[in-house]
Amino acid sequence: MGKTLRTRATPGLAGSLLGGMALFVAFPHAHAAAPATNVENGRYLARAADCEVCHTAEGGTPYAGGRAFSLPGVGVMYAPNITPDKTAGIGAWTDQQFVDAVRKGVSPGWKHLYPAMPYPAYARMSVAQVRDIRAYLATLAPSPQKTPENALRFPFSVRGLMVFWNLLNGPAATYADDPGKPAEWNRGRYLVEGPGHCGDCHTPRTATFGLDNSHALGGNVVNGWRAYNLTSDRQSGLGAWSDEDLARYLATGHADGHGTAAGDMADVVGHSLRYLSVQDIHAMVVYLRGLPPYRTAADMVEHTTPPAGDAALPQTTRGARLYAATCAGCHMPDGAGRQSSFGTITGARSLGADNGRNLVRILVQGSGMQTTTGVQVMPHFVGGGLSARDLADIASFVMTHFTTATPQDMEQRVRNAQQAAKP
Ligand code: HEC
Ligand code: HEC
Ligand code: HEC
Repeated sequence: MGKTLRTRATPGLAGSLLGGMALFVAFPHAHAAAPATNVENGRYLARAADCEVCHTAEGGTPYAGGRAFSLPGVGVMYAPNITPDKTAGIGAWTDQQFVDAVRKGVSPGWKHLYPAMPYPAYARMSVAQVRDIRAYLATLAPSPQKTPENALRFPFSVRGLMVFWNLLNGPAATYADDPGKPAEWNRGRYLVEGPGHCGDCHTPRTATFGLDNSHALGGNVVNGWRAYNLTSDRQSGLGAWSDEDLARYLATGHADGHGTAAGDMADVVGHSLRYLSVQDIHAMVVYLRGLPPYRTAADMVEHTTPPAGDAALPQTTRGARLYAATCAGCHMPDGAGRQSSFGTITGARSLGADNGRNLVRILVQGSGMQTTTGVQVMPHFVGGGLSARDLADIASFVMTHFTTATPQDMEQRVRNAQQAAKP
């Protein structure tokens, strides 16, 4: 305790409080204080760890499981029901069994979990913190919903193989705070590497699909989307973002000049990050800032400044005409959103990075994000009267109008994304 107090009494404290207050003014909905009881702390951590998003089927009862995770070549896996139902859920488990499942990836009966459940990251949470999550889950209404059986191909169907995977890549453990760093940096590291499991998407993988932590948060492709480089490199990472913009993006899913979180990141913000306290968002910013710069070609993008006004839209190509007809109503010719700031896409990395990878995904799959002002929806354009070629032309136009990127094989990229989006 004494140690915590001492590390907190660093000169960083004043800055952190000021930063926190500025943010509190900027996002008045943000929570000001840390939760008081075990159940409240558990609820807070369950949100920081985004448990609900995976353990809920689309439109289903929260935490009653059934969301499908399909892995190409491996099969389909379902997140289980973790409500307190005694047979369908985890109501009959002891606290210790729950802690072992969440921190070690081992459910009762030596059922080894697959790392689609981010237990290697959750191992950073202490036993007490995971028990608090259990205390919160125990307050939910039990759901009798049965979890479908996984349909995995051999040899992936053999759970015992996870023993070897764990030996290679498996659970880390809680670690002590680094006394040489400010308390907020330590808190930020805990949130990012532990409950937040940001590396599950943003860190490249090794040959055995463990996290390549020599390039921690250096960017990776997940579910066909690019989870961008979060290191402090100025061109391919977050080095050129202001602290305020980064905090705003994490807390609200949007920062002017950097676009709006889409795809999986929209889920992360909508179900998890937007519930974090101002201080915790700030702590994450402090930690991300300190990541050593790592340059990645795929995340590079150079933006241009297109002129405003409908007359300024050069309707000389198919792509430009289609953009004017289909997109400009929401995004304007210069990318400044019309209805709300969430539609302001100016400066977004997706507009040009990785040969339009996320741009194409968002056109094919659409995106939606929960915000304090309701769900912000970007419609998908599959079956909306636009062909693969139309979408490719729109993507090419967006890339050359808003950035200096050179689009390549866009129609093939659209077809691949359409194929991947099929159920
Ligand atoms: C990225 C998606 C994801 C997130 C986030 C996630 N889980 Fe899971 N979880 C899964 C999947 C998938 C499984 C099943 C894995 C398997 O079949 O091996 C699972 C399994 C479990 C199990 C084992 C249940 C059983 O019947 O064996 C528990 C308990 C659990 N998760 C709790 C949690 C808690 C608590 C959190 C938040 C701290 C959480 N999960 C976050 C995907 C996720
Ligand atoms: C389930 C996968 C997933 C997880 C977990 C995840 N992200 Fe992301 N993240 C993405 C994707 C995909 C994008 C790109 C979104 C887009 O194109 O709009 C992204 C984008 C971002 C961006 C914008 C970067 C840029 O250059 O535009 C930031 C910042 C970010 N994530 C931070 C985080 C942090 C911090 C965490 C952990 C709390 C986290 N992410 C967890 C998938 C994820
Ligand atoms: C009905 C209004 C609407 C239309 C039409 C629309 N969008 Fe969007 N778009 C949005 C909103 C709202 C968001 C932010 C929500 C989200 O990403 O979850 C968004 C997000 C985006 C993003 C994500 C930017 C980022 O930061 O990652 C891109 C790129 C984009 N739109 C391009 C287009 C293109 C190209 C078209 C035309 C084919 C189009 N949009 C049509 C409303 C719209």
